[in-house]
Amino acid sequence: MDTQKLIITGGKRIEGEIKVHGAKNSALPLLSAAALTAEGECVIHNCPRLTDVDAACRILNHIGVKCRRDGSSVVTGADSLTCCEVPVSLMREMRSSIVFLGAVLGRTGKCRLSFPGGCELGPRPIDLHIAALREMGAQIKEEHGYLDCTAPEGLKGADISLAFPSVGATENIILAAVLAKGVTTVHNAAREPEIADLADFLRKCGAKISGEGGDVITVQGVDKLHGCEHTVIPDRIAAATYLCCAACAGGELVLSGVNAAHLGAMIPLMQTMGCRIYTFGRDSVYISVRGRLKAPLTVRTMPYPGFPTDAQALLMAVCAGAEGTTVFVENIFENRYRHVSELLRMGCCIKVEGKVAVVQGVKRLSGAELVATDLRGGAALTAAALGAEGVSVISEIHHIDRGYENIELLLRSVGADIKRK
Ligand code: UD1
Repeated sequence: MDTQKLIITGGKRIEGEIKVHGAKNSALPLLSAAALTAEGECVIHNCPRLTDVDAACRILNHIGVKCRRDGSSVVTGADSLTCCEVPVSLMREMRSSIVFLGAVLGRTGKCRLSFPGGCELGPRPIDLHIAALREMGAQIKEEHGYLDCTAPEGLKGADISLAFPSVGATENIILAAVLAKGVTTVHNAAREPEIADLADFLRKCGAKISGEGGDVITVQGVDKLHGCEHTVIPDRIAAATYLCCAACAGGELVLSGVNAAHLGAMIPLMQTMGCRIYTFGRDSVYISVRGRLKAPLTVRTMPYPGFPTDAQALLMAVCAGAEGTTVFVENIFENRYRHVSELLRMGCCIKVEGKVAVVQGVKRLSGAELVATDLRGGAALTAAALGAEGVSVISEIHHIDRGYENIELLLRSVGADIKRK
């Protein structure tokens, strides 16, 4: 697909400051939410320049929502939403385009999109999304690879209990509920900060939502939503990524534009490994790493506020060079260890058995020819390569570009030897 590669010569200490961009996983549902507003413009600030965000803008354009970039902001106007179908090509480009289902259905009473299918993290089912929307009165047919959804009498509020606190399902329910008749209650809702950001945004548009951040969310449907101005929350996974880059390479780094409270599972764990980390000012985190880190005993991925699955590969890159053995347990996604075979090429000592990976730290990683297997796995290889001896060449970096704005420029600005070719 792409021929660009990242070429990294490891062993350079990192020193300097990186400003972290807005959260991809917030920007995408916010752009979907913008399709719900019948009047005025939405101005979404701190909207990261990422290929996934571009794909979301193309979906909006396709369904008749005006969407343009203005610096780091995206401006939308959805008064003339006309089409209710997301074409296969756009669905394929971005697996998380399923988040358009709730908004388009809620706004128009209809939505047709192709089944998202699997992705690089293994099967990503949408049964919880579909069951919840059915409870709200949607009629959903799954045929010929398409989901055909209608709500002839409009959506109505419902009492929904999720079997698992799915981020995407919680978002779709909120998006569908804000214009539905009556009250929707979501039990066992996801508590990720991106859910709270979506609720904040929708409230500014006139929606009535409460309880976000907790496990019961209540939405009182309203007749109409209008545009608003909103700033996307900082990307906690990008922040975690740069912390892990510093941990692999050694050195001192200041991250600005972050919300340290969203890194509550990450920072204490890295501190126990021997990283000096403290927060200062309104939105900054400092990390200093000297000498070899100590491996933590166990890392279990869990729904927020537990350790994020999106940071599993990244922390594994750090543990791969630490002193001691770490047991990783991946509880969220099947098949989220595809980066392991690449780390093995670097001389790491890792064994995977189902959802468990045992990582025995080695003294030195060595640069190698690597393939980015998925977004966070690719970022993890980048971090590992920064601390490895010699040159690493990472291909398939379109995965990395889905979630990181100018990753090589930012890392180069703090002293890393990294270029794109
Ligand atoms: C979101 C994030 C993703 C992150 C993940 C976990 C976006 C666009 N994506 O993904 O980056 O890695 O949260 O924080 O924000 N499940 C079902 N049925 C469903 C829905 C989910 O069984 O209908 C299962 C999944 O297979 C998975 C688990 O629930 O095992 C978590 O999925 P979910 O929280 O929905 O993640 P996503 O919203 O897909």
